[in-house]
Amino acid sequence: MEVSGQHIGHGIREEEEQAISEKLPEILGEFSRERSSLLPILQRIQEAFKFLSPGAIKAVAEYLGLSGSEVYGVATFYNQFRFHPPGRHEIKICMGTACHVKGGDVILENFERRLGIKEGETTPDREYSIERVACVGCCALAPVAVVDDKVIGYMQPSKVEGLFLQFEIQRKIREGQIKTEAS
Ligand code: FES
Repeated sequence: MEVSGQHIGHGIREEEEQAISEKLPEILGEFSRERSSLLPILQRIQEAFKFLSPGAIKAVAEYLGLSGSEVYGVATFYNQFRFHPPGRHEIKICMGTACHVKGGDVILENFERRLGIKEGETTPDREYSIERVACVGCCALAPVAVVDDKVIGYMQPSKVEGLFLQFEIQRKIREGQIKTEAS
């Protein structure tokens, strides 16, 4: 695939790619082999697997007789597509105008620095992924982050730390390192 050098596919497990490649023929078979099928195919794949893996991009290219770069180029043009599997906790930072003006980029940097990944990526342990998104419709609360589908307004660096503290506690409870009354 002609996408070497592009930072895609980080952290995707071999068995995952294998499982995707087994299901792909059925999905591809739903579409005609015309170029106009490209976008609907990519949407369908993302709907099925939550992201576009390198193997999926390659398979789509072969199915439509295009190069991997062409498919990748189209997919990156529309920012609805992701190239990494989502994390257990999905962090979305609003980069709409109101949030941008109120420092959304600083909030994004805070998350990126805290997790050691860039937006569009997932941590190797699959706990967190970061994405930038367009206006989520709560401009009065700018800057806004959406964490696991919950809108958090008036974001500031101290709130980022507070969030991770909560996540760490949840993780420890999950792993049995902290006992709750219910457990
Ligand atoms: S610009 Fe961020 S919610 Fe509207």
